[in-house]
Amino acid sequence: MLTRIDHVGIACRDLDATVAFYRKTFGFEVFHEEVNEDQGIREAMLRINGTDDGGASYLQLMEPTRPDCVVARFLERHGEGVHHIAFGSADVADALAGAVAAGVTPVIDGLRTGSMGSLVTFLHPKDCHGVLTELVQARAVDRPDETTPEAPIGSDA
Ligand code: CO
Repeated sequence: MLTRIDHVGIACRDLDATVAFYRKTFGFEVFHEEVNEDQGIREAMLRINGTDDGGASYLQLMEPTRPDCVVARFLERHGEGVHHIAFGSADVADALAGAVAAGVTPVIDGLRTGSMGSLVTFLHPKDCHGVLTELVQARAVDRPDETTPEAPIGSDA
């Protein structure tokens, strides 16, 4: 069961300049920044709004940290722009199983760690009408028994 748009992933060449654009133009602030060495990106999550299920929606701005990563190759082919859309779920393994049962091919085997300690997987764009689709299980919201080093998403803390 997918309950929200968790984030829209946007490939950019200069993360700081792109963050500055979104702040100046729309007033969005950085909620979280991290480097994901596995994916070869430096990223900023800009929180747009909370949602009824206690989750939230973000823009994920991604700048490549090395030329051979997925986002660097995307920038070479397409330039800056929307790279993927991510849907939130309380059970990403179940959501993945449902998508596979519907005939969609995963891009990776199983689940990996995404932004802010989330669990994520990706579905192949060729099976999703051209859209690279990510499924996300947020850490603090959907697994509240686990501690998190940062402010829990959607909490009042
Ligand atoms: Co993403």
